[in-house]
Amino acid sequence: MLEQILLTHSLLVKVFLGFLVGGLLIPFVGIKNPNGFRKANFIYTMIFQALIAMIAFVGIVALVMGGFGMTLSIILMIAIWAAMMYIEIRKYKLIKIGNLQNEQTNKLLRGAFLKISAVQILLVIFMVIFKVMEVKGVISLS
Ligand code: HEM
Repeated sequence: MLEQILLTHSLLVKVFLGFLVGGLLIPFVGIKNPNGFRKANFIYTMIFQALIAMIAFVGIVALVMGGFGMTLSIILMIAIWAAMMYIEIRKYKLIKIGNLQNEQTNKLLRGAFLKISAVQILLVIFMVIFKVMEVKGVISLS
């Protein structure tokens, strides 16, 4: 049972990573159409929130069921989770309120979207590699 929950957690993380990579295309949506970008930004952030909420929910279930306790590795996951959520909300709002009709602002925000996505992707990859190394016994923080 716990094994299945952990598998779901790690599968969701991989789906999330795939989503983030696919999201790199968002800034290229309707280059000439600011409203298209704004709409894509909204749909993107909705799916982002849904996936990250599922990851946390399943993670918390695993945490309680498995009695893992607050190891450093779990604190790291929660910290990365909170950071990702914070960055995403800031980015979403910036694009929502930004004056996309202004060509320079439009360009700037599309660039910011790409850079922020890159940071988020690196954070998830870091976490996955960290967990793999932990399981292999290369590092131990618990
Ligand atoms: C509130 C947020 C989260 C909670 C409560 C949580 C909890 C857990 C727990 C209890 C485990 C199993 C115990 C362990 O291996 O230490 C685990 C495994 C894992 N978590 Fe999380 N997690 C959260 C967020 C995240 C996030 C945001 C990521 C990726 C960025 C992530 C990636 C992983 C990975 C890769 C594993 C290893 C899965 C495996 O062994 O196959 N977790 N998590």
